[in-house]
Amino acid sequence: MRAVVLGAAAGGGFPQWNSNAEACRRARAGDHCVMPRTQASLAVSGDGERWFLINASPDLRQQIEARAILHPRRHLRSSPIEGVILTGADVDAIAGLLHLRERQPFAIHASERVLAVLKANPIFGVLSEECVRRESVPLGQPFEPRHVDGSGSGLEVELFDVPGKVALWLETGDSPDQLRGNTGDTVGVEVRAGGQRLLYIPGCAQMSEPLKRRLAGASVVLFDGTLWQDDEMIRLGLGPKTGRRMGHMSVSGPDGTIAAFRDIAVKRKILVHINNSNPILVDDSAERSVLAREGWEVAYDGMEVSP
Ligand code: MLT
Ligand code: MN
Repeated sequence: MRAVVLGAAAGGGFPQWNSNAEACRRARAGDHCVMPRTQASLAVSGDGERWFLINASPDLRQQIEARAILHPRRHLRSSPIEGVILTGADVDAIAGLLHLRERQPFAIHASERVLAVLKANPIFGVLSEECVRRESVPLGQPFEPRHVDGSGSGLEVELFDVPGKVALWLETGDSPDQLRGNTGDTVGVEVRAGGQRLLYIPGCAQMSEPLKRRLAGASVVLFDGTLWQDDEMIRLGLGPKTGRRMGHMSVSGPDGTIAAFRDIAVKRKILVHINNSNPILVDDSAERSVLAREGWEVAYDGMEVSP
């Protein structure tokens, strides 16, 4: 299996268009310690030729142009993108589907809940269902995504429930019930091939026992690295929300990701979906040294994460 990070930032990207924070300014100035990053997405392949995207970020067009592996090669009109697997219905997971509207066949693999959101939004009709197959994926049931020509990808993929939150733009209120959403609103993706297991979990509200069991023994995990501290957006004056309110557990702290993974055996641990407020985006920050000591890597666009 091959896997390449197409984008490593959270919604809004890095630098975010309306942020004048120091890290964003350093990124814009070309500071080599502060790399710009597009919005989170991963490409996986069983044969190294044909690719499945996990999430279609609003930056997808730019991400395709930046990676030769995703360029058309076969005919006048063609694409090595055979399918898109979705982890939720947030803008940063689905908006990029609109870039893929040119009557190019591929498949969308997602939970019933996420497919219903696409169906309810007529704009996604630009991907005509005759051309772009919708494949409803039951959680916890492995499947082999097929190439457009019907051949098998050689990948075994499974979507699984993750503690999360309904998409920001689908929130109906502030109560815990309204925010939590339903099973299938936030999922993780496990990809298996050749005895290797890669897990992609860009949004996770908290660690749970079932999730720990699934993570155990993984070859590579790309995990929610949105915020360093739960209240960092508030402290920096960037907004009123905590990470918890946004459905993201923070990296540091007693309930954070570093602590949660200490007793889970994972070969390679990588943070992805990183918000522009997170100090780990700065290579020479103190927080980056903490991560290095704890055995964590920080994803960047173009990072090779093949297990
Ligand atoms: C999130 O990950 O919390 C969402 O992408 C937020 C958003 O839609 O901006
Ligand atoms: Mn997001």
